[in-house]
Amino acid sequence: MKLSMIKMLLAGIMAMFIAIVPTANANSGGVYLEPANANVHDKTSLLRGAKYFANYCQGCHSLKFSRYNRVAADAGVSDEQIKAIIFTRDEDDKPTKTGALMENAIPTKDAAKWFGTAPPDLSLVGRSRGPDWIYNYLKSFHTDDSRPFGVNNLVFKSVGMPNVLATLQGQQDPVYRYDIMHHGHAEKSFTSEEAAKKALEEELTFDVVKLGLMGKELVGHYQTKKEAVDFVASKTSYNVVLNKAKISSFATKAEADDYVKANPVDNSNYKVVPKSAYSIVESHEIAKVIDHLELVKAGKQSAPEFDRTVHDLTNYLTYISEPAQLHRTMYGIFTLLFLFVFFIFAYMLKKEYWKDVH
Ligand code: HEC
Repeated sequence: MKLSMIKMLLAGIMAMFIAIVPTANANSGGVYLEPANANVHDKTSLLRGAKYFANYCQGCHSLKFSRYNRVAADAGVSDEQIKAIIFTRDEDDKPTKTGALMENAIPTKDAAKWFGTAPPDLSLVGRSRGPDWIYNYLKSFHTDDSRPFGVNNLVFKSVGMPNVLATLQGQQDPVYRYDIMHHGHAEKSFTSEEAAKKALEEELTFDVVKLGLMGKELVGHYQTKKEAVDFVASKTSYNVVLNKAKISSFATKAEADDYVKANPVDNSNYKVVPKSAYSIVESHEIAKVIDHLELVKAGKQSAPEFDRTVHDLTNYLTYISEPAQLHRTMYGIFTLLFLFVFFIFAYMLKKEYWKDVH
């Protein structure tokens, strides 16, 4: 009896820990995420976020688990006031009612064709990606001529969404840096490719590795590529193959070629195949990475103003993903207060029941 109670207690404690672990830390591709400092209790920010969303996002994205009048109530405005952000129309061609779900404007099928992917419903993105990710995502669109819309994104590589906030933010170009990589770590960084190449030449050594049964095995270490190549060549043999079957093996290519020449019978089918278990690995390499983004053309908003816009949108999406969070902390406090009061009565009751038992 006692043991099972301890087990239950332990299970309870473990469940609490699982609940505490933060939800989905969405992948940012290793990019540093600036904190969004989302505050869903800031009602004016929520309202501004709702307006921006209607103007810049809802053409493509729906928030179809939410209703306009719920947003109005939570942002502290009347149903009449929230009508200002409704631009979609219902079947009778009247403005969508305030009690309706927040649909998008473009048909999903067409959107999928235009953008490669259909714009997803964003009702839950505040939870799946998290506020920090959304905040950084909306701020880090940059020019990339190789992409269909001419933009890419630091936290969402090869993104299908155009930079819809470009008129407000302006245009950002990537500024590159050249890292000298050694065993997966950046040893030095340079702003110019030439400087990086020069430094690379000084550092570069060549390892000859053998691919054995036990994986890669280091067999030689050379300062110049020529030495490494010569070593590999000295270890390479040449098989003469006819119809996939090995006929003979030679130490040099010249010998193998001579053999093929000396055997004139249908020699068009002979093949000389180099055979070596060795390969050359360069000790360092240059990786071209985006160091930061630079505003090259100003938008309608200054940088701090744009940060606020993105902050408002992030707040709004974070709120939409769980409207109950506005009230949840209050539930918690009330529940604890109730338990506290209940405890006093339960304790008094217990005293009363056990009064005569000794
Ligand atoms: C022109 C259509 C369009 C508009 C307008 C638009 N988006 Fe998108 N958005 C997309 C598409 C398409 C994707 C999917 C990208 C992909 O998967 O490559 C996307 C993806 C996203 C995602 C990532 C979803 C995920 O978890 O993968 C977020 C967040 C997002 N959009 C937010 C916004 C916000 C906020 C706005 C308004 C400022 C906005 N979008 C405006 C088309 C649009």
